Amino acid sequence: MTTHEDILAILSTMSLEEKVAQLCQIDMAGFVAEAAASTGTDTQTRADDRCVGSVISGGGADAEDFARVQRALQGRSPHGIPALFMSDVIHGFRTIFPIPLGLACAFDPQQAEKMGRVSAEEATASGLHVTFAPMADVVRDPRWGRCMESAGESPRLCADMAAATVRGFTGKGLGSDSGMACCVKHFAGYGLAEAGRDYAPVDVSRTELYNTYFPPFRAALDAGCRLLMPAFTPVERLPAVMNPWLLNTVLRKQWGFTGMVISDWDAPGELRAHGLAKDAREAAKLSLMAGNDMDMMSGAYAEALTGLVQDGTVPIARLDEAVLRVLEIKRELGLFDKPCKNDSREKQQAACYAPAHRAAAREAALKSCVLLQNGGALPIRAGRRVALAGDHADTRALLGAWRCSGRMEETPTLREAFVGVPVCAPEDADVIVYAVGEEQDDTGEAASKADPALTKAQMDELRRLHALGKPVVVVLFCGRPLILTEVLPLCDALLVAWFPGSEGAKAIRRLLLGEQSPSGHLSMTFPRSVGQIPIHHDALTVARPDRGAPNNRYVSRYLDEQTAPLFPFGFGLSYTRFLMDDVKVSPVMTQSAPAEVSCTVRNVGERDGETVVQLYAQCVHSGRMHPLRQLVAYQRVRLAVGEEKRLTLRVCRDDLLSWDGEGNAEVFTGQWRVYLGESSDAPDVGSFEYRS
Ligand code: GLC
Repeated sequence: MTTHEDILAILSTMSLEEKVAQLCQIDMAGFVAEAAASTGTDTQTRADDRCVGSVISGGGADAEDFARVQRALQGRSPHGIPALFMSDVIHGFRTIFPIPLGLACAFDPQQAEKMGRVSAEEATASGLHVTFAPMADVVRDPRWGRCMESAGESPRLCADMAAATVRGFTGKGLGSDSGMACCVKHFAGYGLAEAGRDYAPVDVSRTELYNTYFPPFRAALDAGCRLLMPAFTPVERLPAVMNPWLLNTVLRKQWGFTGMVISDWDAPGELRAHGLAKDAREAAKLSLMAGNDMDMMSGAYAEALTGLVQDGTVPIARLDEAVLRVLEIKRELGLFDKPCKNDSREKQQAACYAPAHRAAAREAALKSCVLLQNGGALPIRAGRRVALAGDHADTRALLGAWRCSGRMEETPTLREAFVGVPVCAPEDADVIVYAVGEEQDDTGEAASKADPALTKAQMDELRRLHALGKPVVVVLFCGRPLILTEVLPLCDALLVAWFPGSEGAKAIRRLLLGEQSPSGHLSMTFPRSVGQIPIHHDALTVARPDRGAPNNRYVSRYLDEQTAPLFPFGFGLSYTRFLMDDVKVSPVMTQSAPAEVSCTVRNVGERDGETVVQLYAQCVHSGRMHPLRQLVAYQRVRLAVGEEKRLTLRVCRDDLLSWDGEGNAEVFTGQWRVYLGESSDAPDVGSFEYRS
């Protein structure tokens, strides 16, 4: 077993050229044409005969391809150093789970952990070592296409899902056969891209970063994440890849991160476009000296680092520090002893798309769908004649963006999932299912929309179906909250399916036919109009809130739009109803004793179901403005008809931290109001006092 001392011995005898090579990542397309990562601009950084430290793959290469490339790259390294193979395994490898924004609607970190585990088993069996996940960006702007990659607007839910994802991918440890390293991204504040336009600048305060955008990254690193990717976007006008405050002060000095930092695609190279670097030499110097260890695809490190060290511009100590981090990740993954986690196609085929993996994806899809409206058309009762309409009724494009090695050709359509159900034309139906939404490739990176809504043709079709006078059930496929204000009056029921993955169509069938009740709750607010964006549940206090008093002009409101969203964060309906009562709030919380909020939850409807009990808190008197209400605890609960359970949700000190711009955290003493319910509109149930 290779030790850290072995790594130090290797480093001490490496040439300068060999060290620089370890800090460079190129595209697998240079070795296997159909494995192009192609997730960024074409940088022409293709493999030639030189050595590199890592290769990025966009899928399409199999275990034997990676084994062959590994042998070739080790042969080019005088010390036989193995390469790191990395890919964007975001919500599945071959078995695709719901997009992360949908998975977060389960409010169940175990779903993320399961997704990570299944993905790691399939990806490592296929030859990969590292995934560029979790994407830990908090998002509040549905215009941004990358909402789909995020766990939504709540720093707490994003943190829980990020940590669970890391645990899942890590499994029994990075050195285990199916242990996969995570690279948390994009550090930090990328979700604030101006006007929701991808790659646009960000202007964010340090205080806002510490309170809202850092917590999911901190949670991922605390869960064992060993790599981090800086965002394309700036903090204080310095792109993250060259931002020493982010990559050194916060990440290394304050958080003690010892892993490696790898740039986003061509980010060092893009410093020239920002006018911050006049050439590759300056780009490489700025990035490496700020704390970026590896260069993804820009070629700046390969071109300039040797010269920068030789002329003393870059200290050899900084180069060695970066190389040691890279070698240490390879050691932790066991690659010096076993360069390929698997090199057989048979093992890969046995692991990928296994029945147990598909069952896990189906369970995740069942828990991710969110029922936003139901006038009674759902569930569809046996014997009812069903029409399946809409451009998404017959598409296999249900995997979403970042679908890695997912195969659309093996993804059942909604119509195929309805096998056995009498389906007829809308004119002859008792209920019309209208499957509609975004195209999956109109979501994800570089997929911003100024008006995230159904198309005119889709709305015209919905109006036509509505005019038939039968109940219409809209099944919405989307990678972000869409503006549904005009859709709601035209349908009886609306189920958000997101992009539900390999087993999504089967899950939707089960939900529509009532074999299971929807139980998802929104991970992101649905606005009434684009004009309300950004809108989210944990907005800071407003001194002049809009309480709906018509004659009170001087309040925070619109003259032409409501203040409240169409659907709030945490909202989701079921086929049954739940009551919460007998709420008890412990009077005092201290540093060592959490506050406890307990209640009895009853299923008072006619069907079994699950809901998510959510607890929000607000500091009544604080030294710094505070969110009106922030999610501090939640729990899924399944109840049979008539069943009741006593739940206790606990809030500890770390759930209530408030940060200043220097990274100092405190919890404000005094009263904290708590809100308990099934969405962020939950009622006030009392308060506790925090005593430090
Ligand atoms: C892309 C994305 C990043 C991804 C990387 C590699 O530009 O910003 O999330 O991991 O390139 O594909």
